[in-house]
Amino acid sequence: MFLGLDLGTSGVKALLVDGDGRAVGSADATYDVSNPAPGWSEQDPADWITGVTTALSALRAAHPQAFGAVQGLALSGHMHGAVLVDADGDVLRPCILWNDTRSFDQARTIDSAENAREISGNIVFPGFTAPKLAWVAANEPDIFACVARVMLPKDYVVWWLTGRYATEMSDAAGTAWLDVGARAWSDELLALGGMSAAQMPDLLEGSDVVGEVQSARAGLGLPATCKVIAGGADNAVAACGVGALGEGQGFVSLGTSGVVLSGRDTYAPLPASAVHTFCHAVPGRWYQMGVVLAATDSLNWLSRITGQSAQTLAAGAGEALQAPGPAKFYPYLSGERTPHNDAHVRAGFTGLDVATETADLTRAVMAGVSFALRDSFEALKATGAQLDTALAIGGGSRSDHWCAMLATTLNIPLERPAEGAFGAALGAARLAICGVTGAEPASIMTKPPIADIIHPQPDLVAAYDDAYRGFAAAYPTLKDMP
Ligand code: XUL
Repeated sequence: MFLGLDLGTSGVKALLVDGDGRAVGSADATYDVSNPAPGWSEQDPADWITGVTTALSALRAAHPQAFGAVQGLALSGHMHGAVLVDADGDVLRPCILWNDTRSFDQARTIDSAENAREISGNIVFPGFTAPKLAWVAANEPDIFACVARVMLPKDYVVWWLTGRYATEMSDAAGTAWLDVGARAWSDELLALGGMSAAQMPDLLEGSDVVGEVQSARAGLGLPATCKVIAGGADNAVAACGVGALGEGQGFVSLGTSGVVLSGRDTYAPLPASAVHTFCHAVPGRWYQMGVVLAATDSLNWLSRITGQSAQTLAAGAGEALQAPGPAKFYPYLSGERTPHNDAHVRAGFTGLDVATETADLTRAVMAGVSFALRDSFEALKATGAQLDTALAIGGGSRSDHWCAMLATTLNIPLERPAEGAFGAALGAARLAICGVTGAEPASIMTKPPIADIIHPQPDLVAAYDDAYRGFAAAYPTLKDMP
């Protein structure tokens, strides 16, 4: 038996699988994000431990025998978060999350350093870890002075489980401290923010063994021989869960953030496109992706404003896909990564009139997110990545309407995995299988059974293409709005 834990932004999912990667059971626990100031997004690492403990005890209660036979576990985690601990391992401040944009000034400074993009393979975005530390140095110098180690969110849980400070390539790639081509910490990048390799965790590959669950965690009920495998960053691990390891294999994710991702056999960075080029969670591979900061987050925002659940809103969008309406939405609620690298731009509706109804706003939000993903898709193509089809994953992909709109906007078929495909939790369990058994990742990380294929709607492709061009043309105006 193996366990995959998906440490997400809004909660954790624990998935128990057998040696063939077949699901035995799963359990979830949720936690909150706090936004203490505009553009700030934080979480208390203690909440992850509570969430993990809660999900694991529910799984143990439901499947006592299988749980007692777990040979290995791995975590997938939301990326870029800065967990700062002192020499005793005590957390110094709340974790600053991936969608926190407070460190835009520090990001700009590091990004403009001579070799920063060349070594890291990426623009240094405000959401990445290095500028967060530079922000802490400038604004909370007493805390900065006590930072003995910096950990990524899932690595904090791995440390809690094993007592070892370790990370792996896919999460390390999102720090802006890694030489992504060489798969090694870069002293030059670390020095740009006043950091040193001594503050970094041990650097492993995603399928490497970190250690065994330490006796202090015996209360979890895992066997003492249970191995903890390094795991990976959520997007890389989701790719492991759907078999997207190499060229032509990819997915579009409608999660809190939106992602268009393609596996790559080689390292082919193109920082100017604002595409992210990161190490994969398996050895010897990379992946590239465009990131839209607010995907289902945009629909959730509309849900809060209207008082209707996101599911009710999505159902209200109607069955059949229609041509884009006059109401338009620009989903920059938290700024944008790909292709704009703009922490300041903010979202907007245009084209509203007295007849505009909630369903029009919902369709506008779905279209705005779809167009933003098309921006990422175009940027990804510029790197040489070629996706003729993609899997559709993430909570938003359950909406037929949204998927049809996205397939028509990208003009490629989207394959939806069958119910019970567990994405990043399954990818993490698969890394655990590889770590414990030594199996070749490509033999374990296969494509899931496909429930349905959503094809672009031919009579609407041109209309969505036109509307996408209008969307892209509006950005400079939005950007300059006071
Ligand atoms: C990727 C990114 C997000 C988070 C979401 O660069 O910031 O996709 O990983 O969990």
